[in-house]
Amino acid sequence: MINELIFPKPDDMHLHLREDELLKVVSKHSAAQFGRAIIMPNLQNPIINSELAHKYYDEVKNHTKVHDFEPLMTIYFNEKLTLEELKRIQISSKIIGIKLYPKGVTTNSNKGIDSFNSGYKIFEMMEKLDIPLLIHGEVNDPNIDIFDREKIFIEKNLINAHKEFPDLRIVLEHISTKESTEFVKETSNNIAATITPQHLLYNRNELFAGGLKPHAFCLPVLKREEHRVAVLGAAISGNPKFFLGTDSAPHKKSEKESSCGCAGIYSALNAMEIYAEIFDRNNAIEKLENFSSKFGADFYRLSQNKNKIKLVRSSNKVPNSIKIDNGEVIPLLAGQEINWNCSAV
Ligand code: DOR
Ligand code: ZN
Repeated sequence: MINELIFPKPDDMHLHLREDELLKVVSKHSAAQFGRAIIMPNLQNPIINSELAHKYYDEVKNHTKVHDFEPLMTIYFNEKLTLEELKRIQISSKIIGIKLYPKGVTTNSNKGIDSFNSGYKIFEMMEKLDIPLLIHGEVNDPNIDIFDREKIFIEKNLINAHKEFPDLRIVLEHISTKESTEFVKETSNNIAATITPQHLLYNRNELFAGGLKPHAFCLPVLKREEHRVAVLGAAISGNPKFFLGTDSAPHKKSEKESSCGCAGIYSALNAMEIYAEIFDRNNAIEKLENFSSKFGADFYRLSQNKNKIKLVRSSNKVPNSIKIDNGEVIPLLAGQEINWNCSAV
């Protein structure tokens, strides 16, 4: 039995840090475990250009000074991205890619794009400049069943876009379905996917277990068991196209426990311990290192982090809640025991 692992600091390839008080608290949680994280741009005023991304970068750095942590910024895909702006994005060492939200599919996506094909001109420039495209892969058609929105996005949009722009590197974020795992496996090495802890832990029953569970609500929404099993299979397969991205997305408790609760699960506090728990439960702990510290870096053409983390098998209770100035945030697995502890070496 493996009781201790030491490996290069992992990268969280999909993270929400928010602003102000939340940013101050949650950025430190990620910086304590991860060497780098890709920071999502869906703030209330989205990060729509390189100037805003550089400003946000400075704020994140400011809150994470004591750690060896590098935020990798993203730009919110928008139709105003000109060739000149894309060139600024390409040469910035602080910006890693552009995140596309179909309009209305999730938190702060009201400035996203309505029709996927309207992005083609920008995709073409991104392909030439070799700027990665990160996608929230769900259709925004309210007539499509919410459990089918990811699958239909692939069929309707992604297959064609990949054919049209085969050299464009695309990350299908937070995959939640069997169809996504198959699509990613079968396509070229320019297509990869991030996987969250919640999509490995739960199927959709969790949303209704003993009553309505707002803290299990995220987007893409949890799916049937066969999908969870497929996503888990992909994560522990050792296939480099699948890598860690927590999609840790803090919302105040009062905004989740509401008549119209926000989507998002906060996992950053114990992210590595939770992934270790999942891989271990599935007899795949030896697959955790590459999933966390290598495959994502390789896809983004980054070298692995120099510093290391240590994971030790020992009991660890996830807190019931995390205090912030004017409220609290409920973490994934709140109040539950897990069997791993993570520290920087
Ligand atoms: O559950 C989610 N929360 N999914 C997303 O795509 C966005 C995120 C957020 O920003 O809250
Ligand atoms: Zn996200």
